[in-house]
Amino acid sequence: MELRGKKVLVGITGGIAAYKICALVRLFIKAGAEVRVVMTPSAVSFVSPVTLSALSKNEVIINLLPDTGSLQNSEKVETSTWHVNYGLWADLFVIAPATCNTIAKAVAGICDNFLLAALFSCRCPVLISPAMDEDMYKHPVTRRNIQALSETGYKIIDPEYGELASGLTGEGRMAEPERIFEEAAKILNARKDLEGKKVLVTAGPTREFIDKVRYISNPSTGKMGFEIARAAQERGASVTLITGPVSLETPNGVKRIDVMTSDEMFRSVKSNKRNKDLIVMSAAVEDFTPAMKTGFKIKKEGSKEFTFDFVLSVDILSHLGKEKSGYKLIGFAVETNDGIANAKKKLISKKLDMIVLNNPDEEGAGFGTDTNIVTLIDRKSEQRLPKMTKFEVANRILDKYLLLK
Ligand code: CTP
Repeated sequence: MELRGKKVLVGITGGIAAYKICALVRLFIKAGAEVRVVMTPSAVSFVSPVTLSALSKNEVIINLLPDTGSLQNSEKVETSTWHVNYGLWADLFVIAPATCNTIAKAVAGICDNFLLAALFSCRCPVLISPAMDEDMYKHPVTRRNIQALSETGYKIIDPEYGELASGLTGEGRMAEPERIFEEAAKILNARKDLEGKKVLVTAGPTREFIDKVRYISNPSTGKMGFEIARAAQERGASVTLITGPVSLETPNGVKRIDVMTSDEMFRSVKSNKRNKDLIVMSAAVEDFTPAMKTGFKIKKEGSKEFTFDFVLSVDILSHLGKEKSGYKLIGFAVETNDGIANAKKKLISKKLDMIVLNNPDEEGAGFGTDTNIVTLIDRKSEQRLPKMTKFEVANRILDKYLLLK
């Protein structure tokens, strides 16, 4: 893996796994990256700054306030913004091992050491590799804190199962340096071709309520839309994801809005479509909604059968096509027969820039699967893609979006 020209800031906190960071620093150096190491004062009890300085070929910073006596005159002017300089220098900040304490301080915004001050002044992606005892890792407060860091946009590398420093076996062991290195390399080499773009994605099913406790819906799990949101965010876009009810984790750094009904999705799309460069409607919006909605539970006593009237719900995609202002519009078509012809009709009638056709009858395509088989159709071309993961499909859709005129 080539990392020449990349600048990696490695932050070490006070956990037993700190000794493994020597191997991690070596991996970065061997790949050609430039490495600087910062440590919390307690990390020094677990691994020597002298070793890390030799491996990184740079001074290791531990204290928030530098020893001004040891600085050259030219450096003295910088002392008040020292941590800021480190934060701004880095292309990636890797904190490993990240202790329960440092994670909690980061969530609370506490900056009482150099590492935390650098964290709050950096503008680069942050990769956090927690390591602690299993009970600490599973504690609800730690779970909440890790979730909060993930929602901030920091990438978390889940710890592994294995032998822990306490002598117990369980979850909480820091990921091996090779795994941390791979995740770091992925971030450093990621394409940032959507930087500055604002993307709106919809995902999941909607529920149309017949009464207080019953609804009609469809089997969409939201996977395709979530992968589009994740891929766009990783490629540098600022992403808003409007989703129906699904049980998926929000991709790092994505702004998520939960809705339930097609009407709520419509209203949310309308209030979030401003200033967007791209809107992707991958939600499986229910086409029909009950004509009459009761706010109470319908009782079955005395009735042998029930008849409900349904009306068409608003076609959100058509609305976006009609009111188009400045954004490219991508829709999906789920078709079991005459796919290409039907999808092309939708492309024109809904005024889309591209439509993604898939057939749920095909093995490895459609609702709930991790893979999909799609055909990308725009005004000039159609391209059938082989079976691939939904994340890969998401990236192919985004590649094609960048080529749209
Ligand atoms: N869509 C929408 N609003 C609806 C229904 C669908 O925005 N009320 C969007 C979907 O998100 C998808 C596209 O329209 O991007 C096509 O959905 P699909 O179900 O394939 O087609 P429909 O237009 O609903 O037509 P039909 O069901 O008759 O094929």
